Amino acid sequence: MTQQAAPTRTAGRPSGGASSFDIVPTGCALGAEIVGLDIAGEVSSADFARLRQAYDEHSVLVFRGRALQPAEQVAFSRGFGDLERHVVEKYLLPGHPEIFRVSNIVENGQRIGGSGEFWHTDLSYVAEPSRGSLLYAVEVPVRDGVVLGDTEFASSAAAYDALPAALRRKLDDMQAVHRFGDIYAKVNAQRGTTTTLSDEQKKRTPDVVHPVVIRHPFSGRKSLFVNEGFTVSILGVPEAESTRLLEELYAHCKRPEFVYRHKWQPHDLVMWDNWATIHRATGGYTAEERRLMYRTTLQASVPFGSLTPQ
Ligand code: SIN
Repeated sequence: MTQQAAPTRTAGRPSGGASSFDIVPTGCALGAEIVGLDIAGEVSSADFARLRQAYDEHSVLVFRGRALQPAEQVAFSRGFGDLERHVVEKYLLPGHPEIFRVSNIVENGQRIGGSGEFWHTDLSYVAEPSRGSLLYAVEVPVRDGVVLGDTEFASSAAAYDALPAALRRKLDDMQAVHRFGDIYAKVNAQRGTTTTLSDEQKKRTPDVVHPVVIRHPFSGRKSLFVNEGFTVSILGVPEAESTRLLEELYAHCKRPEFVYRHKWQPHDLVMWDNWATIHRATGGYTAEERRLMYRTTLQASVPFGSLTPQ
């Protein structure tokens, strides 16, 4: 697990001079930094094609330190697909409903954003889980010159590959239930808060069932598709066995060899592939130390039901 992109290994630029940036792998199981591309400007279709390839290959892409207006983040994100609008509307950025705020800032007695201080996959609890997310650091908490509030990403593809063959075969045939409704109970228990989903929000997010293992439609790699935040049980398995198996998989996925930990700087943008990763915010700052991130979330471009493991 390293925190910075390793400068020693670079995929370089393709010959022909059509493209304009370098892809520098982090040296971890996942992640690469994109160097030399102005994402606030016009990004050519050739550059988007290369970025999409890098995204499929590395699962997490890091763009360092480019100040972005909300409209520029939305425009860049749209280069990868259509965007989701989150069900918790109070956290959407006024004037830019494609942007979901992740924040600890309180205004008029209310937090202005959500939080992800638990391992999860964004929107795994909907029938068509989103392809990925792009998170932009507007404000980061700094204490004694050190930026707090890292984000960890784990490769659920590398985690799957490292399981014993017999367990992989068993998991390939299993399905799991995902639920949004329980998340506030978990967050409230952590923080001593009392937020709940409204009846309307619950109605719009009924339980869904997904395969425990999916095959990525573009990389062809298999991945575990369960996460601590939103997976509640494995279908058709006694409760105690389901809990034991899920706990085992969660512990396995978090092993340091599968993790890239991003240390934020203001104006970093990090995008990740929800079909090959889990992630979590590490927290570690007080309520007074402001953190404000803007997240755009990509809709799936293929039906999730087609990501079957066989
Ligand atoms: C998220 O879970 O979408 C955000 C992660 C973070 O706040 O670092």
